Amino acid sequence: MTPSAPDASGTGTGTGPGADRRISRKSLLRAAVAAGAAVPLLATGTVALARDAGTRGGPLAPTPFCDDGDDPTPDQMEGPYFKPNSPLRTDLVAPGAPGTRLTVSGYVFGRNCVPLAGVLLDFWQADPAGAYDMAGHAFRGHQFTGSSGAFTLRTVVPGLYPGRTRHLHVKAQAPGEPVLTTQLYFPGEPRNGTDALFDPALLMNVRDAGGGKEATFDFVLDVDGGPTDPPTDPPTDPPGGRWAPGRSYAAGDRVTHAGAAYRCLQAHTSMTGWEPPHVPALWRRE
Ligand SMILES: [Fe+2]
Repeated sequence: MTPSAPDASGTGTGTGPGADRRISRKSLLRAAVAAGAAVPLLATGTVALARDAGTRGGPLAPTPFCDDGDDPTPDQMEGPYFKPNSPLRTDLVAPGAPGTRLTVSGYVFGRNCVPLAGVLLDFWQADPAGAYDMAGHAFRGHQFTGSSGAFTLRTVVPGLYPGRTRHLHVKAQAPGEPVLTTQLYFPGEPRNGTDALFDPALLMNVRDAGGGKEATFDFVLDVDGGPTDPPTDPPTDPPGGRWAPGRSYAAGDRVTHAGAAYRCLQAHTSMTGWEPPHVPALWRRE
């Protein structure tokens, strides 16, 4: 099947109850302050939302989107195309690769609207022709949120494939917390109305920009939030032993993996695909 050309359109926010969630300006302001200068404030003291910028035609700011902790980002099925061991990178576009350039940016918050640093975000998607790379790692990559809880992904608009509307896949995990698996959607897509998985609460804000697309989305993870524990000094030795998936590791823990020793840099729950050599933000080789 030949997929149609990317047509993720403009600034619509879709329809349905999730597309019109009420946003607490108080929460937004609190989140903006917590995030530092990365979030622009208007002269009125309110937060400059991405949707505001979009309607003015100005630059698209990351969307501080947090609603007093009562509505975490919903989960969605993983689907058949996830692969572990994605590369650590924020840019999924190979030089000269075809496709409409897409930048997705935003923040990851906890329920209490505190931006979360060190959150692992693992993205995967179809290429512009609607195909997933199951032999290699094209259009797959993981990254970690910075100290302000912000992330930026550079990629292309994913192509369509039979049975689905246009979407990105992502896993998000705050250090030491469960993994959220979900999908992000594009407004104005004809198939949004027929794809049973589509959830308007997972719509990105999308606008045209410089021949490509700019999108924003903020994740709200079902965690308490708060600062990440720094590595202990001197480091603690337990539990030690061999690295294994499904374990809770604390900063300073030491493990061995494939004959090498590693020290944990921040608390997290391990999982297959995030072995110490693949996640230098979590493990430092000794
Ligand atoms: Fe998919």
